[in-house]
Amino acid sequence: MHIDRLERFWLAAVAVVLGAFLAALVASVVLFGVSLPAPAGRVDPTRLEATEFGSPGLRSDGDRRYTFTVVSRMWRFDVGQRSGQQAELRVPAGSEITFVATSADVIHGFQIEDHNVNLMLIPGQISRKTVRFDTPGTYRILCHEYCGPGHQTMVASVIIE
Ligand code: CUA
Repeated sequence: MHIDRLERFWLAAVAVVLGAFLAALVASVVLFGVSLPAPAGRVDPTRLEATEFGSPGLRSDGDRRYTFTVVSRMWRFDVGQRSGQQAELRVPAGSEITFVATSADVIHGFQIEDHNVNLMLIPGQISRKTVRFDTPGTYRILCHEYCGPGHQTMVASVIIE
């Protein structure tokens, strides 16, 4: 079969580009540890009170390690604070926080500014992610899934001191 010289060139060019994309994908997984967040467990969203989500908030595990349990609801991140108060947590620089989160109603998002955290909070599913905070500052936790008319008010803050 005869393939024109130009056609051969473009077939090869496409193969090179696809190969480069594949190499970038493999490198991101192998070298940089990029992975899709997988569900960390299941929970009955109608019975959250009977689980670890019954008393959300920050818990110290010692040695600058923390567990932060969050329940997202329309339209706030419930971390055990009084309603109407914006969720805020303060920890010293160099802390490692494990976020354990779920949703009590609809799908919410969980993104932390300047950190590699981008989770979906789905009713019935537990999302978990451990992050190290080295640089002092205020980092907002944002709901980045449209979840209703109060969506833009869903924000919490991680304050690194
Ligand atoms: Cu919760 Cu948008």
